[in-house]
Amino acid sequence: MSVRQLFVTTALPYANGHFHIGHIMEYIQADIWVRAQRMLGHQVYFVGADDAHGAPIMIAAEKVGKTPQQFVADIAKGRQPYLDGFHIAFDNWHSTDGPENHALAQEIFLELKAQGLITTKTIEQFFDPEKSMFLPDRFIKGECPKCGAQDQYGDSCENCGAVYSPTELKHPKSSLSGATPVLKTSEHYFFKLSDPKCLAFLQKWTQDGKLQSEVANKVREWLTPNEAGESGLGDWDISRDAPYFGIEIPGAPGKYFYVWLDAPIGYLASLKNYFDKGGPKSRGDTRSFEAYMKDEQVEQYHFIGKDITYFHTLFWPATLHFSNRKTPSNVFVHGFITVSGEKMSKSRGTGIDPLKYLSLGMNPEWMRYYIAAKLNSKVEDIDFNPEDFVARVNADLIGKFINIASRSAGFIAKRFEGQMGSLSPEGMALVQDLQQSVSLVAKSFEQREFGKVLRDIMLLADKVNEHVDAHKPWELAKHPEQAAHLHQVCSACIESFRLLSIYLKPVLPALVAEVETFLKVSPMDFSSASTLLGAGHLIGNYKHLMQRVDPSLMDKLFDLPASPDKTPTPPSSSSPATPTKETGLNPQAPGGTPIEGLIGIEDFSKVDLRIAKIIHCESVPGSTKLLRLELDVGEEKPRQVFSGIAAHYKPEDLVGQLTVMVANLAPRKMKFGVSEGMVLAASHEDEGTHPGVFILNPWPGALPGMRIR
Ligand code: MSP
Ligand code: ZN
Repeated sequence: MSVRQLFVTTALPYANGHFHIGHIMEYIQADIWVRAQRMLGHQVYFVGADDAHGAPIMIAAEKVGKTPQQFVADIAKGRQPYLDGFHIAFDNWHSTDGPENHALAQEIFLELKAQGLITTKTIEQFFDPEKSMFLPDRFIKGECPKCGAQDQYGDSCENCGAVYSPTELKHPKSSLSGATPVLKTSEHYFFKLSDPKCLAFLQKWTQDGKLQSEVANKVREWLTPNEAGESGLGDWDISRDAPYFGIEIPGAPGKYFYVWLDAPIGYLASLKNYFDKGGPKSRGDTRSFEAYMKDEQVEQYHFIGKDITYFHTLFWPATLHFSNRKTPSNVFVHGFITVSGEKMSKSRGTGIDPLKYLSLGMNPEWMRYYIAAKLNSKVEDIDFNPEDFVARVNADLIGKFINIASRSAGFIAKRFEGQMGSLSPEGMALVQDLQQSVSLVAKSFEQREFGKVLRDIMLLADKVNEHVDAHKPWELAKHPEQAAHLHQVCSACIESFRLLSIYLKPVLPALVAEVETFLKVSPMDFSSASTLLGAGHLIGNYKHLMQRVDPSLMDKLFDLPASPDKTPTPPSSSSPATPTKETGLNPQAPGGTPIEGLIGIEDFSKVDLRIAKIIHCESVPGSTKLLRLELDVGEEKPRQVFSGIAAHYKPEDLVGQLTVMVANLAPRKMKFGVSEGMVLAASHEDEGTHPGVFILNPWPGALPGMRIR
């Protein structure tokens, strides 16, 4: 077998937030694949980086009074505890704002230009006159041109689903300053993807059978000309005007590369950084980065989520090909992870906080095992379900796998001085059966069929446990004359346990490292499956290798932090998870604002919160924001309250609902009438990036007038 040379990446996460479980899932998938390749003897360079550039990061940094460089550096400082915590072994982690990326992006641009694939066009765009900057679509809000819904983004309507350009919005407003944007022209740089040679290249690259079939089909749709006969690919706008946090376009002062131009180049930059730091050299590879990338034998793979397929199967291969570089050998697209069937919403921070998981002392390899068990080579979404998690880990990992060692190792240590014995013919047949599975196991790992490989391995574990159940070592141990038989059975168990450990090693690297210590063997790879420990081999003392999942941990994982000391500590003191002294603002704070200073219960009890029933609700003529509500709080007369939720709720949907109101707020005279209280609702501090207002709704059984305390 020849040694493959693999360059592997995961998508580069935006440097405006900490990792969530979706990131961790992607890294676990790639890490398992990389470890399996290494166990096959292949050479792998596995790199990641922060995606540092773009308007949203620039704006987020400004909000907290930091330079974008400082902002992304603070995020970067927090990465390692997640990666170490889940045993994700990147060889290098870098940033798209590193000098390597600046140089590579500019070089690649000039190469594309030399190919005649760069053009400029003057476009008209919304400009914020107060902020003096062109506005990204997401930072413009207004009335939907189709359905008239208020407060819609510049690119699409969340109410009716219409897609439009920001200039079509009615009454547009900048979400940065609130100003009415003005149209302004500007010269933009374009990558001429509509050029016939690009289309020809992409047709071939995407349809030659390498891509997952669902991906290839999707891409075919994108490439298909529309009814008017226009190519499915338009030219790609790759420039943005200052102020922008990005890489300057050579020969174009004040123009920057759009973040998606330089982001994937960050894959190359991180690898170059690794080469320049001497990483490959320390592993016996003396080539330069350039020589490595020129080597035709080197295969390049990108693990990504389905949402960024377009960039990775069209823009990225074209960028590489037309700058005379190696194109990806494949792009491995995965689906999204949901938690208990719910999509993760960045705004509400639902899902599982990976650091909280770790800080509760939960074993990271439970998560690796569970995620692997759910993954296959398709673009399917997977769900993290707490009950399923507990059942799967306890039944398979502990009940089937760990159990084999815990049922046999003690006897070897106590009765046979730690020495392995010979196998019975039946035991030998079992062990050989396991050995023969190595190629099947390796193949499934290679094909990213992790769910299948774990099912296959657990079937093998079942066979071993059947052997144990048939020979009952605990019974044999009661009869001294059965010692030889006991020794055979337990030796077959330990040999089998070792083989299963080899097969599980890509998924459970830390656990198997402990197994290696316990078995007194050097680090195992797939070729280790062709040999056995053999009679006479001495093994160490068995200590329990893995605990069962205590189901009560699941409640804690999904609970709000119970007490301040249980709150997962941010990874570093300067991490933006703690409010900065200068601004008191905090981009990582729950809901976008730091928790208010402490109050005593006497302060809280001054606020009289009551359950209220919405008995009437109507829009307010002359106001687009307000709804007029009549609330029954168990008093003689209903209260009238004006609430600024018209953009979010239809009056008829609210009538009959229970909610929560502040009942002792001083009445306030408004333009449309007196408001006699306030209805409570949740929203993110930054509604521009985290839209939605959610009014409270008590559990069934609450009655109007009940006090909330
Ligand atoms: N910065 C871009 C990628 C640039 S690659 C040159 C980006 N960043 S991201 O932080 O939003 O996403 C990083 C990766 O996480 C993507 O592959 C994305 O698909 C993946 N996931 C984000 N949410 C996810 C889930 N809920 N589940 C699984 N993966 C998800 O996109
Ligand atoms: Zn609409």
